[in-house]
Amino acid sequence: MVIENDFLWGGAMAANQCEGAYLEDGKGMSPMDILPCVQCGRKEAMYHPGIAMEKDYEYYPSHEGIDFYHRYQEDIALLAEMGIKAFRTSISWARIFPNGDEVLPNELGLQFYDNLFDECLKYKIEPIVTICHFDTPLSLTMKYGGWADRRVIEFYLAYCEVLFKRYEKKVKYWMTFNEINMITHIPFFGGGVMIREDEKANQITYQAAHHQLVASALATKLARTINEKMQVGCMLAAGSFYPYSCNPQDVWQAIEKNQDTYLFIDVQVRGKYPSYAQRIWNEKNVTLNMQKGDKEILQANTVDFIAFSYYSSRLTSVDLEFSNNIVDGNAIQTLRNPYLDITQWGRQIDPLGLRITMNELYDRYQKPLFVVENGLGAVDKVEADGSIQDDYRIDYTKKHIEEVKAAMNDGVECLGYLTWGCIDLVSAGTGEMEKRYGFIYVDRDNKGNGTLERKKKKSFVWYKKVIESNGKLL
Ligand code: BG6
Repeated sequence: MVIENDFLWGGAMAANQCEGAYLEDGKGMSPMDILPCVQCGRKEAMYHPGIAMEKDYEYYPSHEGIDFYHRYQEDIALLAEMGIKAFRTSISWARIFPNGDEVLPNELGLQFYDNLFDECLKYKIEPIVTICHFDTPLSLTMKYGGWADRRVIEFYLAYCEVLFKRYEKKVKYWMTFNEINMITHIPFFGGGVMIREDEKANQITYQAAHHQLVASALATKLARTINEKMQVGCMLAAGSFYPYSCNPQDVWQAIEKNQDTYLFIDVQVRGKYPSYAQRIWNEKNVTLNMQKGDKEILQANTVDFIAFSYYSSRLTSVDLEFSNNIVDGNAIQTLRNPYLDITQWGRQIDPLGLRITMNELYDRYQKPLFVVENGLGAVDKVEADGSIQDDYRIDYTKKHIEEVKAAMNDGVECLGYLTWGCIDLVSAGTGEMEKRYGFIYVDRDNKGNGTLERKKKKSFVWYKKVIESNGKLL
């Protein structure tokens, strides 16, 4: 199978994990800006942001990030040297509308992204943009309860209109929401939603998700009206659930868990809630409030492509013997799979799972796929000579690219492959810097010490060759 020359090899990051400059040039507060690092209780803060807001933590990793806001030229030049063809980042909504509900956008925020996209285009790098990557302005959470309130749809569309009009000539590929299915797992990240203990979490998160789905459909419509060349995609946190055994109950449980994920994408790709949605809502005591016209909006404005992140497959069983053996599944709980190796952060390594996931997605939807996140979070050591010998990252990435190629050989249409955190950045889940994903090292530790200097890792040279050879030399 030959990979076409327009295959988008590249890397990905997100505003809230790299830009820093958290209040500069008029930016408002974003959800990540109130979260501390892992040692100071990030997990608790992620799931109970109300508590986090009242605290004064010693260190907030997003406030400076990797200082991408000031160093983007150097960083894009390095990425260009690595030969990447596509660079995914997100726009910080609170940089454009600091409170989310203003009438006029913040010109200085818009200028930053003009400069960033121009810099990419100067090197013929295609910018791939996520409109909202865990980044609903904090003020919308405080005033409206985030996406739980339907009025946020209008604010989001006003934001999208500004972006589409401003960047229509610079950005072709857009994604409406990062990992839209994450809202039911981490509502504060996914939808700027805070849930009190006495509130019904499922009712709130599924309603907020519905608002996002309507907003996503309307944004897709808007993009097409402004410039029909723009391509709009959905984005899901993928990774299929396997049944632990051939016990039909395990198999059924895996199907149900996969449906929990597919629910959102089914709407965005097929234009309507799937037949099993009502069963899920019944089980979770959810009464969805759909307004007149919502069904038609969803039906008429489906996406052009399916972007997804893949870090691992997931595993489930009804058998209590296994049920305590849970490991990190990127915020979605999974059982430990005895056939798989595991990373330092407890994430299972399953390259073949990527081929499985791609085949499942393509069989189901028959739309082009786009791998927009995949990578290994690991501790890197700077050797005495200054080099970083990250052979483990090369090995991980190589094995995953092999499976992308295999999936394409199976007939799956795939637009590109972007590694997560092509430059080291702040981890979303833990707030750590030392959980590094990059081919480019950033001198900064978990407490915010370091010069922020960039260094090429061994994987930098390797990935450059992969891209140059269009995936032949792995
Ligand atoms: C994805 C997110 O879920 O996983 C990213 O889209 C995140 O924002 C990535 O960084 C890796 O997770 P973590 O917790 O290791 O940063």
